Amino acid sequence: MSASGQIPPAGPLQPADPDEARVVPIRREEIAMALAPRSRIAEQFRALRNSIQALNPDGAPRSIVMASAVRGEGKSVATINLALALAEVPGTHVLMIDADLHAPALEDYLGLPHRAGLSELLGGRVGMDRAIRTTSVPNVSLLAAGELPVNSTELIGSDRMRTLIGACKQRYSYILIDTPEALTISDAALLGSVSDGVLMVVRLGSTPRHVVEQTYNMLENMGGNVLGTCLTGGSVVEGKSKYAGR
Ligand SMILES: Nc1ncnc2c1ncn2[C@@H]1O[C@H](COP(=O)(O)OP(=O)(O)OP(=O)(O)O)[C@@H](O)[C@H]1O
Ligand SMILES: [Mg+2]
Repeated sequence: MSASGQIPPAGPLQPADPDEARVVPIRREEIAMALAPRSRIAEQFRALRNSIQALNPDGAPRSIVMASAVRGEGKSVATINLALALAEVPGTHVLMIDADLHAPALEDYLGLPHRAGLSELLGGRVGMDRAIRTTSVPNVSLLAAGELPVNSTELIGSDRMRTLIGACKQRYSYILIDTPEALTISDAALLGSVSDGVLMVVRLGSTPRHVVEQTYNMLENMGGNVLGTCLTGGSVVEGKSKYAGR
């Protein structure tokens, strides 16, 4: 089922119309930056944005992987909320990439139909202009997952993925990359090794501390630069600088 509740047509996903999503408002209440921009959660995402900006004083384009140890810690929701928070800064253009080729979710959270995306782009079947869509939020664009491949890790770990991130940095100020759970699927660690930073999304009171630490160490050992954590859980979302409290 697509997000709109329609049964998608059989066959390959259609290429994206770059502007089709511009008129689709975000309706999911988890996206506090859109639905409750004055809420505490929204303010906490702005604080997280400020921490990220403070780590990047020269304002160079940055790619950031959103990772978590296990499923369901809030990566996809945090990816969208952080994208919206970053885009509030004048002149900041944000691209969200749904690189969770196991359980992609960004189109559904945004209420968009499923279109060709990352897997078709990496496979050379569409170009960037037919894979990336603008959204209803100014300066926030989306590269959805596309068709789920059997060989996600091969695609994610390919030179083409590294080249794509580089190409996106020519066009966008921040690239936020949503990923599958890092402990059992190596895609997040592979992406971390070719990105500027990794944010660990941790659901408070849910994931045992040693599991978070194990994931942190694994991401760093694979070459990732873990910037800090984005704590989620109930109504709490909190950013922490790399050096605070460690
Ligand atoms: N800030 C939030 N407020 C309310 N609910 C939230 C929030 N963040 C996440 N959730 C809920 O937690 C669940 C998991 O969130 P999300 O899909 O973002 O996690 P995920 O880490 O991307 O999961 P997966 O590993 O399956 O991709 C969803 O039901 C979502 O609605
Ligand atoms: Mg997700």
